[in-house]
Amino acid sequence: MRFIDTAVPILAGLSTLVEAQNVDFGKVYSAKPQLKSASNTESSTSSIKTSSVASSIVSVLSSRHAATMVSSASTASAKSSSSAKSSSLSKSSNTSSSKSSSATTLSTKKATSSTKQSSSSTQKTSSSAAASSLCPSINNKDITDTKGKVYTIKCSSDTNVGAFTNKAATKSFADCMNACDDTSGCVAFSYVGGDGGNGSGTCWLKNSAGSAISAGTNYVAGFLKSIPSSSKTMTTSTKKTSSSSAKITTSTKKVTSVSTKASTSTSTKKTSSTKVKRATATTCSNPNSILYNYQANYNTPTQFLLDTTLAGLAAAQWYPPAGYSTSFTSQLAGLFAPNYLGYQQLSSYDTSACAAYCNARSDCNAFNIYIQRTPTFIPDDSCPNPNAAAQITCALYGSPVDASQATNIGQYRKDFMVVIQGSNGYNLNPVPASVSSFQGPTALDGVAYSSNIYLGQKYFSTYDVNQCSSLCNAYTANSKSQNAKSSTYTPCNYFNVFNLTLNGQTQLMGCYLFTTSDAANYDVYTTAQDSSGTVYNLTNSYGYALYPQDKGLTSVTWTPAPTGKNATCSALGKAGSSYIDYNGVNYTLGCGYDVQYAADIGNQTTPDFYSCFAICDSGSFPGCDGFAYLGNTCYFKTLAGSSRTPQLDNYNVDMAWMPASYAGFNAYTVPGTVSYTTTTTVWSGPGSTTTTTINGLSGTVIVKTSGSVPAATTTTYVTVTTDQGTASTIATQTITPTKGLTGTVSIVYPTPATTCGNKGAAVGFYSNPVPGQQGVSQYPAFKPEVMKTSVPSAQVTGISYIGEYNDDSHGTYVYGKYQTSNTLSTLALNHVFYVFAGHGTGYYYINLPQADDVTLLWVGPNALSGYTRANAQLIQTWSAPAPATLGFYLTANTYTPIRLWFANGGGYGGFQFTVTAPDGATILQTTPNSNAGVMNSDIVMFPCDTSKGAKFPAFGKET
Ligand SMILES: *[C@@H]1O[C@H](CO)[C@@H](O)[C@H](O)[C@H]1NC(C)=O
Ligand SMILES: *[C@@H]1O[C@H](CO)[C@@H](O)[C@H](O)[C@H]1NC(C)=O
Ligand SMILES: *[C@@H]1O[C@H](CO)[C@@H](O)[C@H](O)[C@H]1NC(C)=O
Ligand SMILES: *[C@@H]1O[C@H](CO)[C@@H](O)[C@H](O)[C@H]1NC(C)=O
Repeated sequence: MRFIDTAVPILAGLSTLVEAQNVDFGKVYSAKPQLKSASNTESSTSSIKTSSVASSIVSVLSSRHAATMVSSASTASAKSSSSAKSSSLSKSSNTSSSKSSSATTLSTKKATSSTKQSSSSTQKTSSSAAASSLCPSINNKDITDTKGKVYTIKCSSDTNVGAFTNKAATKSFADCMNACDDTSGCVAFSYVGGDGGNGSGTCWLKNSAGSAISAGTNYVAGFLKSIPSSSKTMTTSTKKTSSSSAKITTSTKKVTSVSTKASTSTSTKKTSSTKVKRATATTCSNPNSILYNYQANYNTPTQFLLDTTLAGLAAAQWYPPAGYSTSFTSQLAGLFAPNYLGYQQLSSYDTSACAAYCNARSDCNAFNIYIQRTPTFIPDDSCPNPNAAAQITCALYGSPVDASQATNIGQYRKDFMVVIQGSNGYNLNPVPASVSSFQGPTALDGVAYSSNIYLGQKYFSTYDVNQCSSLCNAYTANSKSQNAKSSTYTPCNYFNVFNLTLNGQTQLMGCYLFTTSDAANYDVYTTAQDSSGTVYNLTNSYGYALYPQDKGLTSVTWTPAPTGKNATCSALGKAGSSYIDYNGVNYTLGCGYDVQYAADIGNQTTPDFYSCFAICDSGSFPGCDGFAYLGNTCYFKTLAGSSRTPQLDNYNVDMAWMPASYAGFNAYTVPGTVSYTTTTTVWSGPGSTTTTTINGLSGTVIVKTSGSVPAATTTTYVTVTTDQGTASTIATQTITPTKGLTGTVSIVYPTPATTCGNKGAAVGFYSNPVPGQQGVSQYPAFKPEVMKTSVPSAQVTGISYIGEYNDDSHGTYVYGKYQTSNTLSTLALNHVFYVFAGHGTGYYYINLPQADDVTLLWVGPNALSGYTRANAQLIQTWSAPAPATLGFYLTANTYTPIRLWFANGGGYGGFQFTVTAPDGATILQTTPNSNAGVMNSDIVMFPCDTSKGAKFPAFGKET
């Protein structure tokens, strides 16, 4: 056995956190919704102020509406175009009213122009025709463009299909028909520009029609209806145009006939609903498609603005979706902001869904999500003030948004007042730098934390992601060096960086390390509280995953490759045991087994069995997933798909295979007994002779006797293992039955010399100096090194089990010493012993199944002196229980020192401890929840021959 001295831990930063050390997760922090007045002066949180803001919004809009009514009787849309250009409400409402009057005049020209179309300059006439036919008069009409293609027009509508490209409209929505004609695949468009479709804008071209969804008056949707196949159809379509102009006349009539109903006012709720229903049936015919299903028991704009349920939807989303920062929340207005990119309707107040729309566009940098009081029917003269619904809108912007831009308080559509609730704005975060060897950054929904995979944290005063990746890499390097002689170490495979912010100001950059990328599934923490009680927001959270992931398997480079006997199959393990080779490939050993002649793909001579692994891994024999070794030759195999099971073999063949591709067998399920069939036959020779053969688990004993022939019988052998004797090899003896049917296979393991009063282990009793702090994950306060020079309250030598348990109410005997309930609650125990590798060379597994509150283990030189919490090779805790097992590769018949500290921080306490030999034999095992257990004779306090291992220093005199 050879030890490499473990390095002093490099990660001082992880054990001693300088800044914000006591940050603790999971405290719920609720942000109060901030309501801003329409003019964005002061934010207010009181309901009195909210209601005064609401009524001021309503009165501002009503007075605008009154003003519009005076200037134009037909259309009253005060909705500003949401495009960058429009900045003042009054300006856009002026434009729209002047437009609507011109629309009325121009629509008369239209019939004329369509007649002209066949003869004169098509281009010009048609564009004037289109310009003359504007919304809302052409709503639901089929319009033929200059190419003779017919589009069905829906005013104030978008389509529910995303655009595949866009083109500019210079004069009006009619340009979009031409743009669509000229773009292959285009079957529909959404124009976003001036009110009623007039003015320059953007044509969003769609490659599938989808359906119309209600949008602002600056939207016009067009759906390609028919395509001319020849010039003849041109004429037909011209006709169509004139017929559609006839329709316009019809619709005008309609308007006139019902417009009187517009001023219906209501006194009680009941009457109102009945009246509205009746009105719907007779006058409202263009339903708005509203995805959010919200049933309100009121129908006024003021009540909408004061609706706390709707306000709550927005307030709940104070924390931004992954990749964004919250700019503002709970405003009663949408935005007038530059670089507007259009909107999507949502079926719920889902900021992540809105973020997904923004993420899908490279030009999107911000979004505004709000709830709009929207008419259930598109208002027109026959349906001026339909019932209200709540529509959730996700509006996208090319540049960052802020609360000062939230001034779009609403508008009238006919007599319907559109107002805005719960308006939240989010800006896309700057993406942190990428880091070599790590995939990411991946925006997270919050900060990740899970005690099972968490490794440590640190905060930095400057924002540089490399500080966190360096910490992650250093963690792995340190763990590797500390576990150089064990089979595994704990790698850092994932880190999470974030900003610790207070009132929008970043205080520190946080860095969390994890052992698996699974961390990303635990990204739910949004706030943290420090020891002084200050709550921070955790923002700009990004994850980075090591690529490829580090499996945490120690290669055997710490010791030279075995040669000679050490490189044989039986030196590496036994049939059925797992063997992780130099390259980290998992094999199952089949020492003594073979699948004769099966699946061979090639062979190569090597000095030993061990050398076959690297060749199989190397790819020189493609498909190699196992091998058999005989003489000096590796026979490489492709065993995947083979139904052959390895059989015990008489020709010194050893096998190994990759359990991932071939089941082979699991030796632990192979019965330890061999069934012999005894056949007695008569022979002519003198006296009697016996021949025994074994094939797999079947043995045949042929007894040849001169004389009588007894009937055939079956003999069963049982395997008995004993730890006894001082021979240096494991002896196997088969005792055939002299009478009866059961024979014995006896395996005798070497044991350490115990002639010097060294049997068992030694333990020192202490009082835990840091009780009550065990609730902190992994009980970092417990550092056993502080007790190295403390005189123990008691000590016992020659103990014959290791383990402890107290039930929090009774005194009990611990290693034969009575302890009161009080003492037990803060008991600390320091165990020392040597393990003798009597079960051969191979991995001895040490496991700490459970600790209440902490156990720490050292194997090798540090166990004798130099042990600290930081260089413990295994830690198990109550506060963060996690599997704690390490394999230590020991050479047969050597002695290895081990130290195990246990401490209780209060109340119930106890721990369990297991050591298993390479062949699965139990060396040490605690009987759970008791002061008892099993210890075999391989445990001694020190070797009798001190050249094989020094005595442990006395308790109280440790170094
Ligand atoms: C956390 O973020 C919300 C939303 O941006 C904000 O209202 C609140 O003040 C922030 N809290 C802190 C402690 O920074
Ligand atoms: C917060 O995090 C981002 C990266 O996500 C970084 O660019 C920024 O500098 C940090 N600090 C502030 C004040 O935003
Ligand atoms: C086997 O390994 C042990 C321990 O490393 C070493 O002392 C011994 O010389 C090795 N034997 C052979 C044959 O290589
Ligand atoms: C190796 O494979 C065996 C069988 O599939 C499995 O039980 C064992 O856990 C694996 N070992 C490692 C270290 O992955």
